[in-house]
Amino acid sequence: MRTLKNILVTGGSGFIGCNFIRFLLDKTSSFNGRLVNLDALTYAGNQLSLADIDEKYGIAANGSNARYFFEYGDICNRSLVETIFTKYEIDTVVHFAAESHVDRSILGPETFIKTNIMGTFTLLDVTRNIWKDRNDVLFHHVSTDEVYGSLGETGFFVETTTYDPRSPYSASKAGSDHLVKAYNHTYNIPVTISNCSNNYGPYQFPEKLIPLMISNMIEGKSLPVYGDGKNIRDWLYVEDHNNAVWTIMQNGITGETYIIGGENEWENIKLLNVLIDIVASKANLSSDKIRSTITYVKDRPGHDRRYAINCAKIKNELTWEQNISFEQGLSNTVDWYLKNTTWIENIRSGEYQNWIKKNYHKRG
Ligand code: NAD
Ligand code: TYD
Repeated sequence: MRTLKNILVTGGSGFIGCNFIRFLLDKTSSFNGRLVNLDALTYAGNQLSLADIDEKYGIAANGSNARYFFEYGDICNRSLVETIFTKYEIDTVVHFAAESHVDRSILGPETFIKTNIMGTFTLLDVTRNIWKDRNDVLFHHVSTDEVYGSLGETGFFVETTTYDPRSPYSASKAGSDHLVKAYNHTYNIPVTISNCSNNYGPYQFPEKLIPLMISNMIEGKSLPVYGDGKNIRDWLYVEDHNNAVWTIMQNGITGETYIIGGENEWENIKLLNVLIDIVASKANLSSDKIRSTITYVKDRPGHDRRYAINCAKIKNELTWEQNISFEQGLSNTVDWYLKNTTWIENIRSGEYQNWIKKNYHKRG
């Protein structure tokens, strides 16, 4: 088992990253080290998501015993990344930072190329220069099953499935995966890679299917279903994903890729119908009334039809398994969004993001 001490979490203010930081500091006893969150606070990053963690584990409360540190900045900024590596004696990177939404990648691919490809390159190249030949270090790359393309009615993605990305998002993630593999192969940087299916849970930006639909239901807005609503995704609760990432970071074989999934396939329209019933019962609303707001809209260009996962490798080799049933996960998620309407308002407000940026620039 690896001993990981000073972990750089990129994109720690986003959905999966903030849940990862919370998981490591608050929900497991298997980590005693320090976490440094490097995040550019794009529209998807939110300081509020970790305000309680900062209060509990940050410098203000703990001084030199602090275990959580925030660094504002871009992963493409090489000198900043170098400074962070030296300042915190980073021995581990877990790389979540990315532009992550397929629809946005269709509207404006450039930032996806910059962050997902150039950003990953910058991080890797800094590790090459600073870690040199060390083998007590690890770069864990968090990626997506979307790099494998789209399935027909049968079959599953496995670690050896040929890459076939079909959106600017998945192409940029595929590029980043290849760079990580190349740095391992060419420069012997110790890496592990995970390719996970669709996550859901607390703190997800309400542009992705599940939180968008929940927040639209709460606000009485219509529910936009792309195409015929029969596209299929495999859904995994975010904490199960993070538990898998942590398992790989500790015990995964260097150079290996692990596919992670929920083994939980749903047509979008069927999932939406389940979600409507949960929200209606928890928020005391009429499910018929919510259902009447379902609106079939123009399909997403190049919309991948089906994703499905065979995650036997991580299950058999690292004894990981999903802990949260879909029913439980959706119930937790709806509870969280019903309670955290301020968070939803804040993360959706461009003004809020500008304010955060201005304030961090002032401090810097
Ligand atoms: P997210 O969009 O919620 O968060 C991304 C975070 O990265 C934000 O905090 C943002 O501010 C930060 N960021 C963006 N560009 C940056 C830059 N140039 N420099 C520094 N920080 C930057 O994304 P997420 O859903 O939490 O996804 C995290 C990772 O997991 C991504 O790499 C994504 O490809 C991968 N992934 C996501 C899913 C999913 O269902 N959400 C599934 C599989 C894999
Ligand atoms: P999304 O959450 O964007 O994840 P991804 O495209 O990365 O899988 O979308 C999940 C599925 O839901 C996908 O098939 C597109 C569909 N979808 C809608 O039907 N309506 C929406 O408003 C959104 C955001 C997604």
